[in-house]
Amino acid sequence: MTKVTVRLSKDSYDINIGTGILKQTGTLLKEAGFTGKTVIITNPSLKKLYADNLAEKLSGEGFKVAILEVPEGEEYKSLETAGRLYQQLTDFFAERLTPIIALGGGVIGDLAGFVAATYLRGVPLIQVPTTLLSQVDSSIGGKVAVNHGQMKNKIGAFYQPRMVISDIATLQSLTAEDFADGLAEAIKHGFIRDKEYFAYIEDNLDRIKYLDVEALEKVVTGSARIKGTVVAEDERDFGLRNILNYGHTIGHAIESVSEFDLVHGQAVAIGMLVAARISNRMGFLETHEVDRMKAVIEKAGLPTKMPELEIKALLDSMKHDKKITSGRIKFVLLKSIGEVFVTDEVDLSLVEQVIREGN
Ligand SMILES: NC(=O)c1ccc[n+]([C@@H]2O[C@H](COP(=O)([O-])OP(=O)(O)OC[C@H]3O[C@@H](n4cnc5c(N)ncnc54)[C@H](O)[C@@H]3O)[C@@H](O)[C@H]2O)c1
Repeated sequence: MTKVTVRLSKDSYDINIGTGILKQTGTLLKEAGFTGKTVIITNPSLKKLYADNLAEKLSGEGFKVAILEVPEGEEYKSLETAGRLYQQLTDFFAERLTPIIALGGGVIGDLAGFVAATYLRGVPLIQVPTTLLSQVDSSIGGKVAVNHGQMKNKIGAFYQPRMVISDIATLQSLTAEDFADGLAEAIKHGFIRDKEYFAYIEDNLDRIKYLDVEALEKVVTGSARIKGTVVAEDERDFGLRNILNYGHTIGHAIESVSEFDLVHGQAVAIGMLVAARISNRMGFLETHEVDRMKAVIEKAGLPTKMPELEIKALLDSMKHDKKITSGRIKFVLLKSIGEVFVTDEVDLSLVEQVIREGN
């Protein structure tokens, strides 16, 4: 098992990464000082796949376990679901030191994290991410949230987990689309911070795609190190964390204008290439680097071509995106692979031109 520590000013925590480590959850909980009750929040399919076994194992180790099920889907990441979970926690007599285990992808992680942050003003949160996206991204960094009406992820908190347990074996049951979605974020980590990590993904993409556990462990560990370091430097998202939005300004616009025809990772993949071309046109990233980036995105099973969308709508959507300061769009760009910077000096006519030219 590999441990990556997220070093915060207070309450640092470990990301435990390994294959088949779900069964060590009880030991890890006990090592952290937890005994007695624990609650697993998950969805019905993950209950059958993983949570029932985990609950049985934990019961055998002396824990009193409740599994709380949330129906599958982003629409259940809501205040209404949180309300139902608070009631179920009360019925189980969950206490201040009863850890909540969030077992699932980013939807479960965000929702269960929000409930853990608010129930009794905060109970311990254990993130057990089961999608590639949640292992490389959403389980790290303490952003927990629910959606409310049109407000996506706007009702939430910064609430760091006590530990993360990333079992690589759980990735075997993901659909190819969900897997590629997470891979987009892992590739992004290489683009923005680490050219050797990017080169590893580039050289091992076949092994990664065919779910070779050793290669996957390297990817989850590499991304956990990168995201963990960025979060440690900017826990409350006042500055550096912005670099994690590479490809996201354009990606969010594509998602919204296409009315979510493309899933997040697909939109971000296209957004990352548009941002690469903008970087290149502004005299930074070299053309051969853009070509390398495109080749990896393509081989990862992600789209590279901008879909047919109205350019004005895309630009309007970018202007409405949250990353606007005093009327200028903040762009995350690359100087080279592994070297990122943030600027509000990008001419919107250049963005339009690059989108028109296509990737
Ligand atoms: N908190 C953060 O920092 C952060 C960062 C990025 C995204 N997010 C949030 O994460 C969510 C998206 O997360 P996601 O991509 O993991 O999607 P998800 O949680 O919806 O999971 C995708 C699908 O995979 C299924 N699944 C999960 N694990 C599985 C497994 N091991 N085997 C088979 N199926 C499995 C789920 O049931 C679901 O149907 C969004 O709500 C987004 O807002 C949060």
